Amino acid sequence: MEMRAQFREGMSRLGAAVTVLTTDGPAGRHGMTASAVCSVTDTPPTLLVCVNRTNRSHDLFVDNGTLCVNVLGGHHRELSGRFASSGTEDRFDTSGWTTRTTGAPVLSDAVAAFDCRIQSRKEVGTHSVFFCAVDDIALSGDTASGLIWFGRDFHHLRLAS
Ligand SMILES: Cc1cc2nc3c(=O)[nH]c(=O)nc-3n(C[C@H](O)[C@H](O)[C@H](O)COP(=O)(O)O)c2cc1C
Repeated sequence: MEMRAQFREGMSRLGAAVTVLTTDGPAGRHGMTASAVCSVTDTPPTLLVCVNRTNRSHDLFVDNGTLCVNVLGGHHRELSGRFASSGTEDRFDTSGWTTRTTGAPVLSDAVAAFDCRIQSRKEVGTHSVFFCAVDDIALSGDTASGLIWFGRDFHHLRLAS
């Protein structure tokens, strides 16, 4: 197998939480599904997200300078598909959105939401790595089931024992 195909196959086996990244501001409101999200440090609270530069969301993140990481629960399967499909015009066509500090849409029943200001950006190959300073956090009481992307499909995360 060629190295790139082997890399993609290997990464499909690295399970990851599914999130929806949202933004709003002068450039407009938008959002996309993302699994490339990682903690950098808790001092100060910082995370990174990796976004393909050909995504429509990319330039809106850059221009608005804000981004909210909405961590999805098991019941958000349909929503995650909507925010990943290229055909959908208004992905926010349901209620259940609010705002907090930055003005980016916050999913009311997200398992957790990190409302961020984008601090810096590094281009690597096809993607931008955004370093995001967390301004505000919303935590849901419902942590019964997370939504996981593994083996190129969605899974519900449950306690092993
Ligand atoms: C489970 C899942 C995880 C994804 N993770 C990412 C990601 O981390 N970064 C990325 O650039 N695209 C990711 N995508 C693809 C985008 O969601 C998809 O290309 C989306 O249509 C982009 O929308 P936009 O062009 O309107 O911004 C993911 C898709 C799925 C289904």
